[in-house]
Amino acid sequence: MHIHKLEKYWLVFGIILLGVFLTVLGISAFAAGNQPASDADLIDPAKVHQTAPFDKPGLHKIDDNEYELVMVAQAFTFTPGNVEIPKGAKVTFLVTSPDVVHGFQLTGTPVNMMVVPGHINSLTYTFDEAGEFLILCNEYCGTGHHMMSTKIKVVD
Ligand code: CUA
Repeated sequence: MHIHKLEKYWLVFGIILLGVFLTVLGISAFAAGNQPASDADLIDPAKVHQTAPFDKPGLHKIDDNEYELVMVAQAFTFTPGNVEIPKGAKVTFLVTSPDVVHGFQLTGTPVNMMVVPGHINSLTYTFDEAGEFLILCNEYCGTGHHMMSTKIKVVD
């Protein structure tokens, strides 16, 4: 079989590009420490409401100006809702879901998580200014998805 010279070049070029592409993908996916959540962050989705800390959802003070906000994202609510947080507080959000994948986006901040059943998803944010923040579910989770939101009020 005769392959035209230029065709051969393009074939080789294509294969090299594919190699580069797969290498970049492999490196960006795993080399930067972007591993799936560790075992320590796992939870049985069927027992969320009986498993600490999700058996007591809410804002828990852990130090001076430091809090943990334990939240359950469930079709189609966030529990607890309408949380009040003192201004200046450093808050670590711990969120999980007992049913399907939800989103946890704190609008106007970099806090944006995918809430995956079986995992405890967490991020920390410091509220330097008073005001109201909207928490939105930004993963389609069913018929009530568009109603799934709550508010955080940061008070002086
Ligand atoms: Cu929960 Cu969309």
